[in-house]
Amino acid sequence: MAKSAPGTAGLPLLGDKSYEFYKDPVKFLMKHMVDNKSRVFLTRFLNKPTVFVGSNKVVHELLNEHSDKLELGYKQFMEEIYGENILFTDGDFSTGLRDALSELFTVDAIKTYQSDIDRAPVCIYMFFKKLAIEICLSLFLGLDFSQSDASLVTDLTVTHWHGIISVPVAVKIPMMSETTYSKALDAKRKLLEIINERRKEKRHQFPKHVERLPNFSDVLVNNHLLLFTSALIPKALSSILTSFMIEIGSEVGNQNMLLEDPDLLERHLLEVVRLYPPFLAGRRIICEEVTCGGYRFPAGHALLYMTYAAHRDPDVFDQSDAFMPERWSQSNKNDQDKLFTLGAGPRQCIGEQLVWTIIKTVINELLRDYTVKLLPDQDLAYKWLPVSRPKGNVLVTFQVRNSTV
Ligand code: HEM
Repeated sequence: MAKSAPGTAGLPLLGDKSYEFYKDPVKFLMKHMVDNKSRVFLTRFLNKPTVFVGSNKVVHELLNEHSDKLELGYKQFMEEIYGENILFTDGDFSTGLRDALSELFTVDAIKTYQSDIDRAPVCIYMFFKKLAIEICLSLFLGLDFSQSDASLVTDLTVTHWHGIISVPVAVKIPMMSETTYSKALDAKRKLLEIINERRKEKRHQFPKHVERLPNFSDVLVNNHLLLFTSALIPKALSSILTSFMIEIGSEVGNQNMLLEDPDLLERHLLEVVRLYPPFLAGRRIICEEVTCGGYRFPAGHALLYMTYAAHRDPDVFDQSDAFMPERWSQSNKNDQDKLFTLGAGPRQCIGEQLVWTIIKTVINELLRDYTVKLLPDQDLAYKWLPVSRPKGNVLVTFQVRNSTV
């Protein structure tokens, strides 16, 4: 017999815990899991009764086996900023969009983008975020970063992004500002104009690929190009790259081995995204009651699958807070499906292959030419929202390999 998740949804508005969550999400999670003696608990978040799920087994089952009863929960915050696209659709419509878009992200399709991905690492001294923005904008829109107008587009993507973290929802959350939001809508309008111009030039391959997808109206083509070029993706890419450099930057001797052994690199990357997933959580709206892991998930509630907590669930990962790449060839050899960094199930990240291609290209290019050394005595404490990364600057030196300096 399934039980309700422990905890309480409290009174509307008064019982809302959004502020507490945004202030320090990891502390919030830990406190509620301890207080409720459960990795699954009920609370009120964004003024909606929300079940937080930090059990790896339950997240896995919900995303893979009960997805037909769950809808993606992002429309409320982000639809105005992005316009209609796959992320805000459900049911047959989203399946149709996914089937079409998936063609653009197969291993073979990605091989044809490799030259765009390779071109970017000339910006080796810039921050990973800038590098990732350049990769995405040159891949998806064909922008040339030796031209000055590319930096205008970069600035617009940043302004557009700031709108997402200032979304006007019913509950007051930190970082919220109406001016930022209206600036973001203005940036969206300008970005859509630029996307239209790039499409008219008909020189670049990726926009043409999207135009050829079945049943993609002009609006859908533009909105998906807007989604792909949004700062959200480069931020996530740079989150992974930065976390990786932190983990390897204090053991310079290991870097040759990572370069020479793709399996070793893979294990390091799996461990990086396990401990430092760029997105702490994903959201669903429960449209039909689900029973899972012994819990009842009532229709009308929201749920947050807590990637961070599921990745540190000691039922699946022994010494779950420790960085142990070797676990991926030993105790967790067959557990890649227990990682939710890129989601799971039918709504898993469509760009999964592309993410790994970009990450591995950047790392291989970088380690081939440089040794990366993390400067000692830095405060590397993380912040987890809106995208995980160390709070302060991370200082590394890049020493040219074989240099005598
Ligand atoms: C490190 C980079 C990335 C991370 C961490 C990431 C993460 C995710 C996650 C967790 C989801 C599932 C959301 C959920 O379950 O609620 C998702 C969905 C999605 N991702 Fe990514 N993503 C990344 C890069 C990309 C790239 C490069 C693309 C394509 C250009 C992309 C396109 C999408 C799309 C279209 C969806 C929605 C799929 C659907 O609604 O069915 N992502 N991503």
